[in-house]
Amino acid sequence: MSDLRFDNRVVIVTGAGGGLGKAYALFFGARGASVVVNDLGVSRSGDGTSTSAADVVVEEIRKAGGKAVANYNSVEDGDKIVETAMKAFNRVDIIINNAGILRDKSFARMTDADWDLIQAVHVKGSYKVTKAAWDIFKKQKFGRIIMTASAAGVYGNFGQSNYSAAKLALASFSSTLAKEGAKDNIHCNTIAPMAASRIPPLLLTNRHPTITTTITITTTITITTTITITTTPSPPRTESIMPPDVLAALKPEYVAPLVAYLCHETTKENGGLFEVGAGFVAKLRWERSRGAVFKADDTFSPAAVGAKWGEITDFSNPEYPSSVTDTDFLSLLEQAKNLAANPKVAPLTYDGKVA
Ligand code: NAI
Repeated sequence: MSDLRFDNRVVIVTGAGGGLGKAYALFFGARGASVVVNDLGVSRSGDGTSTSAADVVVEEIRKAGGKAVANYNSVEDGDKIVETAMKAFNRVDIIINNAGILRDKSFARMTDADWDLIQAVHVKGSYKVTKAAWDIFKKQKFGRIIMTASAAGVYGNFGQSNYSAAKLALASFSSTLAKEGAKDNIHCNTIAPMAASRIPPLLLTNRHPTITTTITITTTITITTTITITTTPSPPRTESIMPPDVLAALKPEYVAPLVAYLCHETTKENGGLFEVGAGFVAKLRWERSRGAVFKADDTFSPAAVGAKWGEITDFSNPEYPSSVTDTDFLSLLEQAKNLAANPKVAPLTYDGKVA
């Protein structure tokens, strides 16, 4: 299979001044696409701004013979990023919503500002960029969009309630856009990447270690003082703690092939969610147990639910719904009608035990 090219396509990559975004921008630039390298140039927690991050990547693409322009707006002003693409290249074909920051804190310590900023950059930012290109995609009957979720969004992760909420929101945003865009050849897929860059992969953030340092100070008059300091540091930079072979496998460059594949004009995949990193690519989907059916009458009690808990949570014969219409409520109603009344079960007590 000859490698896929992107000649005559215009790609917007947000947050492309470093990490994963930079890898995507260089990848598309080397395969014929014109690239809008967007980056606000902020710190990992979203502070400060700088134009140099985007400029360096544009320079690198141009030096290699590719076409690229820089854009320094926040993704929250997505229309300005699309405007840059239209001014420079007069079209937009592909959007990689990648820009992101972290404000990790346990939920007890989370402030409204930590919550709002994460939603603004990840969710509102991806919405604004995509919204500004949507009509262009519809008119030209072509568009490819990537949303960037995270394993934290899919599974939850300690200290990332704001981030995980935003990241899973992007996956469901993507599912809806996939359904709305299909008829106009607009495809939207989501990735949960893993790469050694500024926003570290979960296998690292899970291990916020508690470090205990014992310092022994011996003075000349032989007084010995022992000080014990216990700290929980913020996640370390990936580069500083990973063994070199793991680090090599976690290159952002190893996420780019899936992103590029999903964005190619010949790719049919639409509405998918993929985990990708270190040379591993897998698709995720919803799984539903066969469940239990209850007669919908006044015998449908919490205790009746408890009596069928085994059936409700039995995944031995699952279904894989991918649309709201995959639930056949009429047949469920039909089944329920033919059921005898729910068995009278002794009520549950407040501690969940049967009375
Ligand atoms: P990074 O911190 O290396 O790069 C993110 C870039 O986005 C930075 O250059 C930053 O300046 C830019 N940016 C931040 N806010 C922006 C804004 N409002 N407008 C425009 N640009 C902005 O991060 P990394 O690790 O490359 O992550 C990229 C994406 O992948 C993020 O969405 C992140 O949440 C996601 N992700 C990364 C994982 C990893 O293992 N690296 C794991 C799961 C998700």
